[in-house]
Amino acid sequence: MCGIVGGIATRDLTPVLLEGLRRLEYRGYDSAGIAALDAAGAVNRARSTGKVAELEQRLARQPLTGQLGIAHTRWATHGKASEQNAHPHCSDRLAIVHNGIIENHHPLRLQLQELGYVFTSETDTEVVAHLLAHHYGRQQNMLSALRCTLAELRGAFALGIIHQDEPDTLYCARMGSPLVIGVGSGEHYIGSDPLALLQVTDRFIYLDEGEHARLTRDDCQIWSKQNQPVQHAVQQYQHAALSMEKGEYQHFMLKEIFEQPAAIADTLDGLLADDHVLTAALGPGAESQLPLIRNIHIVACGTSYHAGMVARYWIEEQTGLPCQVEVASEYRYRQVCVPEGTLLIAISQSGETADTLAALRYAREQQYLGTLAICNVPGSSLVREADWRLLTHAGPEIGVASTKAFTTQLTALLWLTTALAQVRERAPEIIAANVRALRSLPARISDTLELAPAIAELAKQFQAKHHALFLGRGPHYPIAMEGALKLKEISYIHAEAYAAGELKHGPLALVDDDMPVVSVAPSDSLLEKLKSNLQEVRARGGQLINFACERAALDDGEGITHIAMPWVYETVSPILYTIPLQLLSYHVALIKGTDVDKPRNLAKSVTVE
Ligand code: AGP
Repeated sequence: MCGIVGGIATRDLTPVLLEGLRRLEYRGYDSAGIAALDAAGAVNRARSTGKVAELEQRLARQPLTGQLGIAHTRWATHGKASEQNAHPHCSDRLAIVHNGIIENHHPLRLQLQELGYVFTSETDTEVVAHLLAHHYGRQQNMLSALRCTLAELRGAFALGIIHQDEPDTLYCARMGSPLVIGVGSGEHYIGSDPLALLQVTDRFIYLDEGEHARLTRDDCQIWSKQNQPVQHAVQQYQHAALSMEKGEYQHFMLKEIFEQPAAIADTLDGLLADDHVLTAALGPGAESQLPLIRNIHIVACGTSYHAGMVARYWIEEQTGLPCQVEVASEYRYRQVCVPEGTLLIAISQSGETADTLAALRYAREQQYLGTLAICNVPGSSLVREADWRLLTHAGPEIGVASTKAFTTQLTALLWLTTALAQVRERAPEIIAANVRALRSLPARISDTLELAPAIAELAKQFQAKHHALFLGRGPHYPIAMEGALKLKEISYIHAEAYAAGELKHGPLALVDDDMPVVSVAPSDSLLEKLKSNLQEVRARGGQLINFACERAALDDGEGITHIAMPWVYETVSPILYTIPLQLLSYHVALIKGTDVDKPRNLAKSVTVE
């Protein structure tokens, strides 16, 4: 996805901006560019398709210097990956970089064309450049021009702007896409991710939604959406939070569990508008195909397969599209039937899992409408070989047991479900409710992480156990499967998951007072059914551990432990209920003294069949 870096300083900023772009490369992009104001007061620009290294080579041939500059990595949405479409975009004497999607770019483009503006790209961003130039032409004041422009834009954006008439000022704004201000000594920076700026500062101001700012070397003024001045504290960057170090955490797995609020917020960056989702984020090729989808096949392995299983419940309920989910190792060796208009979705954290990759290659020989990779690694084989991609932004996951990769996959899949519901003109209130729920997820997950001490205590009950059962219903059945997989992987306790209604068809024979039975019990339409299943367990002396909604009113009593979960909108509860199961397996493994981050016999990326 796109990346922004910019600054105003008393030194030449080109090396800083290029280093910033290199640090944003991990997000995935297909072109890069830079613009800076030279000593003579003119805006110069260089852009290229491909890697930042290619932009650097161009700059080695045609140097560009300046103490005020902006730079960008672009991932194509409106218009193909080409030099013309690469940012920065210029109009008159100004240049801008933009992350996000301007939804009303088409009518604005028509209005601006009528006013005589000539477009040199297919992008929505060039509309913003011309609109700014238009308002500046009338008002001769950049701050007012920026405010008039922001008032006309719909969608999601983060913007960085420079103007020849204000050689000592950098402007920026954000709405729906993140942007931070880096505070240096006699210099200020902007970045879509603090990582881009850690080379020059570790002090940041985090802009809130709808805010815009004017930065000079020594001053930083910020205003709200209503143009009221606002003050934000400068925050010291917590280095361990996103780096490849464990920092204060004993294991990568625990760190990655605690990174989930940020990883989910990052994954949703640029995907949500006020009450709907921005389908253009899928890229031009994919967006136009969405209305043609009639059927969905999902393939994946392990934890990624569980994400696909949850998605099937969401997709069939919210879009009415039939959806089939299969482990990639089975799918690749059977004759599949592909109805007309079928989309194949391959889900993989690494994008290098041999079975998932083989399944994708096999699918590409069939008559699919197209193939979509949902993946955490932009340059992976899966992403390169699929027709379309939807990237999760979990950041590097080092622990072999997948945690933040899973919840970001679920987040991407719920977003995709909402996008499909939107193009199929499903009830707008359901779409708006999904958007609200997705947006609130990072905060709800932070609340849930506070249960960690209670779960550490609970984990002691597993110390001498050799088996465990996990139960769930509906979309929480795959969450129970994921909980059981986590426990198996890192604590080596044998665990099985069942759809709770299946218990009496066999597994109930295993239940006695030595068998912990973990239930996933949100307050949903299947809760009453689940309660009956739990009574069946209790009646046989099974030890019940319920992760239950605080409103669920489950039976209390001897042999029953409840961990109360905060209430959430039903659709997102599978994501939330994953968290305590991750914490449970982690704390059990800790007690058992296993190698949490590198469990025996397992590899992070399974590149062999
Ligand atoms: C989960 O904790 C696992 N380590 C494993 O099941 C994993 O999800 C599976 O191997 C698939 O990996 P992928 O997402 O990289 O394709």
